[in-house]
Amino acid sequence: MNMSGENMPQGVLQEIEKLVRELNDHSYRYYVLDEPVIPDAEYDRLYRRLKELEEEYDYVLPESPTRRVGEPPLEKFEKVKHGMPMLSLDNAFSHDEVRDFDARIKRLLNTEGPVEYTVEPKYDGLAIELVYRDGHLYKASTRGDGYEGEDVTGNIRTIRAIPLKMEVSGRIPVEIDIRGEVYMELDEFEKLNGQRERSGEPLFANPRNAAAGSVRQLDPSITASRKLYLACYGAGTLRGMEFSSQAEFVQWLKAMRFPVPAAMRVVKGIDRAIDVIKELEINRNSFPFETDGAVIKVNDFGIQQKLGVRTREPRWAIAYKFPAHRATTKILDIQGSVGRTGVITPFAILEPVRIGGVTVSRSTLHNWNELKRKDIKIGDTVVVERAGDVIPHVVTVVEKERTGLERDFPIPGKCPVCGSKVIREEGEVAVRCVSLHCPAQVQEKIIHFASRGAMDIEGLGEKNVELLYSRGLIKHFEDIYRLDKSDLLELPRFAEKSARNLIDAINRSKRVSLTKFLFALGILHVGEYAARVLAGNFRTIEDLYNVLPDRITGIRQMGEKSASSISTFFSDEKNLRTLESLKSLGVTIDNPDFESGRKERLPLEGTSFVITGTLPEPRNEIEEMIERLGGHVSSAVSKKTDYLLAGDEPGSKLEKARSGGVKIIHYKEFLKIAGK
Ligand code: IVH
Repeated sequence: MNMSGENMPQGVLQEIEKLVRELNDHSYRYYVLDEPVIPDAEYDRLYRRLKELEEEYDYVLPESPTRRVGEPPLEKFEKVKHGMPMLSLDNAFSHDEVRDFDARIKRLLNTEGPVEYTVEPKYDGLAIELVYRDGHLYKASTRGDGYEGEDVTGNIRTIRAIPLKMEVSGRIPVEIDIRGEVYMELDEFEKLNGQRERSGEPLFANPRNAAAGSVRQLDPSITASRKLYLACYGAGTLRGMEFSSQAEFVQWLKAMRFPVPAAMRVVKGIDRAIDVIKELEINRNSFPFETDGAVIKVNDFGIQQKLGVRTREPRWAIAYKFPAHRATTKILDIQGSVGRTGVITPFAILEPVRIGGVTVSRSTLHNWNELKRKDIKIGDTVVVERAGDVIPHVVTVVEKERTGLERDFPIPGKCPVCGSKVIREEGEVAVRCVSLHCPAQVQEKIIHFASRGAMDIEGLGEKNVELLYSRGLIKHFEDIYRLDKSDLLELPRFAEKSARNLIDAINRSKRVSLTKFLFALGILHVGEYAARVLAGNFRTIEDLYNVLPDRITGIRQMGEKSASSISTFFSDEKNLRTLESLKSLGVTIDNPDFESGRKERLPLEGTSFVITGTLPEPRNEIEEMIERLGGHVSSAVSKKTDYLLAGDEPGSKLEKARSGGVKIIHYKEFLKIAGK
């Protein structure tokens, strides 16, 4: 791009500069001050004129608003190391705990006099670091683990409240890392969720998730379509300038046109700070954003330095958490919703009620036991509580409001999404739909089907399954084998080579062992181990069609739960049709694990272990070794347990094994049995 502006009439250069200045000025008034002075249509006109000139003369200033959009999607986020760690905050849940914080500071400083604090709302969003070099936005990253985050520069540039260039008429540092919170306003959040509900997309649980989901997006045009804001509250690395206090720093940020926390106050002494917290708590619902507390910071930077940092939190700041919002409303209906793993959970449809700035019309009821325990009925008046989430939960039923017309909601016998019969195992809380064809679960099942250890289709991970599913290209397992290269080439993530690689990987996966195939089907309670046992006992998959549970419990290593789920799976006509389609599309199943073909027996063949306590090697490695050697690990001691492998500080399983007469062994004996 021609950045020098050579061969450009002087008048044009001036017009471009003027337009950029004016447009940035209007953005600032609109997004930061919330005091627009021109109508949107006028802004759009100026923007179009600028774009025209930039294109005609191939000249774009670094701070031009046209640079905020149009970056191509990324393959993945690059990592960025923070110049200084991004810390988090200690929490206080009562005014007394805030006083303790003040007392601790005075003790450390060895002073009796009142400490000066700043108090401001805590924004419930996503922490971001903006690196400015010579006044220009150079990089933006997420907090990550505090030391290293993800490079989200292209996305952050689309947030119009963030200056691409600082006000150079003021003093600016050579380099500064400005920290702040990106958030979504409540109105925008509700609008976005409304849209998502209409288009059948999953809803964001709260404005924080919505903001985080919008920033951690590989495609900046999606971020640009979400209205996001920022509040800047701190600095990391700072070179070429100094500040003496938080208040002075925030004043400077404001002069540089950065958005800063609303209603920040400077007060002397903890009593005044608590007064401000109380005010914020009263006003919290009038803020356009979600705030879950107040942040109290020592104002003086010299004192902050003296107090220092405790592992991950500074000693000079604390977050006071507001109590959760509550309201009373009525339950209009109770329904079941099917999660991605088939578990059906009850939820309540509520008479809409405003709770802390958000209209709430649903409440989760967690599970069917909870429904019973809290004795919740359709028609009940209930107290609902919303912490950070927009989906609140029912705290209690207001019994005195009962009229006698309230109705119990029975545990459903059929899946509310696909109508298949559901299963509930004895002693289990969860009710599940186990159909292979349930639309609520299909994506998750396909992801599992294609994963390593299952059909092992390289390149068909979560992201690509989501993409192919959303485009209607795969609806069931078998559709994977109907894909061709031209289907893939129409999609944004694929080019010639990646499309060919995926088709090759799909073709390679067509030859598969029965063990892997059974595992890939994602039958409830059939993990890799059970799949191997089944393959050891059934020569072909057809031998499992319409199998009875007794035939499976007859196999030593199989329990009743898996038997019933396997039998349900292989008696479902639709499931059997899927298996037939897979075969007719070229999936060929070999069975090298079938017992009669095997000569050598593994040392732990058919032996069942339970592990307790700390062992010399990591637990998962020992479990893997046992399974590799033909054994099996269960989580609880039962009649079928052969050995309890006990390490240091064993848990209650030891007692259970003793009373059940299960042989208890230590690591050394275990190695002997394993032939090591
Ligand atoms: S000051 C040393 N001020 O809350 C950390 N943080 O729970 C200084 N947050 O990591 C942070 N609003 O992401 C500060 N007004 C505010 C804030 C705020 C939200 C976030 C921030 C921090 C987290 C800790």
